[in-house]
Amino acid sequence: MLRSHTCGELKIEDVNKVVTLSGWVQKVRDKGGLIWIDLRDRYGITQLLLEEGRSDIATIDAARKLGREFVIQAVGKVIEREAKNPNMTTGDIEIDLGSLEILNSSLTPPFTIEDNTDGGEELRMKYRYLDLRRQPLRKNLELRNRLSIETRKYLDSQQFFEIETPYLIKSTPEGARDFVVPSRMNEGQFYALPQSPQTFKQLLMVAGYDRYYQLVRCFRDEDLRADRQPEFTQIDCEMAFVEQDDVLNTFEGLVKYLFSKVKNIEIQELPRIQYSDALVYYGSDKPDLRFGMKFIELNDVAQNKGFKVFDDAELVVGINADGCAGYSRKELDKLTDFVRKPQIGALGLVYAKYNEDGTFKSSVDKFFSQEDLKEWAHKFNAKPGDLMLVLSGEANKVRKQLSELRLEMGNILDLRDPNVFVPLWVVDFPLLEWDEDSHRYHAMHHPFTSPKAEDLALLSTNPGEVRANAYDLVINGVEIGGGSIRIHDRNLQKLMFRHLGFTDEEAQEQFGFLMNAFEYGAPPHGGIALGFDRLVALFGGQDSIRDFIAFPKNNAGRDVMIDTPSVIADSQLEELKLKVVKE
Ligand code: AMO
Repeated sequence: MLRSHTCGELKIEDVNKVVTLSGWVQKVRDKGGLIWIDLRDRYGITQLLLEEGRSDIATIDAARKLGREFVIQAVGKVIEREAKNPNMTTGDIEIDLGSLEILNSSLTPPFTIEDNTDGGEELRMKYRYLDLRRQPLRKNLELRNRLSIETRKYLDSQQFFEIETPYLIKSTPEGARDFVVPSRMNEGQFYALPQSPQTFKQLLMVAGYDRYYQLVRCFRDEDLRADRQPEFTQIDCEMAFVEQDDVLNTFEGLVKYLFSKVKNIEIQELPRIQYSDALVYYGSDKPDLRFGMKFIELNDVAQNKGFKVFDDAELVVGINADGCAGYSRKELDKLTDFVRKPQIGALGLVYAKYNEDGTFKSSVDKFFSQEDLKEWAHKFNAKPGDLMLVLSGEANKVRKQLSELRLEMGNILDLRDPNVFVPLWVVDFPLLEWDEDSHRYHAMHHPFTSPKAEDLALLSTNPGEVRANAYDLVINGVEIGGGSIRIHDRNLQKLMFRHLGFTDEEAQEQFGFLMNAFEYGAPPHGGIALGFDRLVALFGGQDSIRDFIAFPKNNAGRDVMIDTPSVIADSQLEELKLKVVKE
């Protein structure tokens, strides 16, 4: 070994030991007679010391020639530091450097390898291997590693079996576009990369592996956002002989286990909220429950008072912002501008201040008396000093808009602490969702999700009303996972495909393998997949998953380090029969 210790482990107890360290030169400080070198590896930073008149002259000369990111091996004695640094694990000691050897030189890196780097996003992506040397990224990957190990430990303790499923498959309908791979041996034919191992895990249930899991890469050709990558990782699971509660309890167990082991946080029982209630009370199927601000509907007290905007609206609904009655004109205008942003799309915002003296001041005083506003306050359970914020319009739209305003108020009032975690289950999702573009119903989760038995009759009369045995795991307003109890009956699956607009032939062609398998004793089964990158980012207190993945793609879906996607050689295209060869 080219080292006796790492750069992150030497402590005061090690004083007087002669050690060998290897790592990268973070920084050299030359203060006349004294030279300090910060030596870094993945475990931390250790300070090396040279002193003119005491240290070896050749070593001092060598040190003066070092550049940033040179790789060196250093031999020296651990000594107690005069000026200790309590912020570093090795801050009590330094190394009285005896000799050093340059193992490799380095060009000057294009940005500083420090916690707060001067490198822009694109540059850091291009030199990702340098960016990964920075401690914040190193910590993110360490967290990822920890979470994957603990996930495996928990699932192993619950008799889950990790089984790999293929990456070259046939399209699975999870709602995004497939990435496809041409087949050389089968001219004109393509594999699809899995959007998830959904059909395979169901086939594993038919095969009798009643508890399956896999930390698995999934591929989806969709527009990227902070919490989406074209390739991402799922903790994918499936269980046989279970009902919805069994799946929820098992994965509630995983959530509690991970928080306890990795963050030392004990999570209470997860609330289960119906999808329809999530929309009515929070305007979102992934509510952030770190704070309240539940929606209050005002139709009965706010309509028929001559205010046309409210009178014409399907829904008048608002939130109560605790202690915000003192908001200035400017602050209120800012909120109005916020809801009017094109991405949110409200026409305006109505406010009513419940003043400390018990009077009201609203933006609609012309239409609403003090008595009327008192009624609002009663509905909102508001107290003097509060601010009521109200939107109106078409129910679905206005709920979405108010949900954005609620989250914004949560930000403004510091109610969304990244160190507080509130997980919950959203249950009873609708089975189908109307798609305006194609003018037909789509499966809201996926076509293998079972309808609730008591809603089955509605399938032919009122398909939009049918609820599914489908659930999402939501933490702090992020959809961390989703799953369902599946259909295991061939005829019901066939019926589902018909409702989704497949002809029997199309269904047989695309999913015949699954429906055939259902003829051979498919057990009742269900499962879930958690977005692993999202889970790690959440544990790391960040919204973007990018820096929790070693080599992510940028917003245009490119890897700018290896420069891909890229064109391929004509010879490859020809071999794949993707290019017509001109005679
Ligand atoms: P679903 O499509 O809901 O379900 O995906 C499960 C979870 O995967 C994460 N996720 C993503 N993470 C990063 N980038 C993406 N592009 C991305 N897309 C999804 C989310 C999501 O909740 N087969 C079903 C699961 C099942 O029914 O068992 C499935 O894939 O956190």
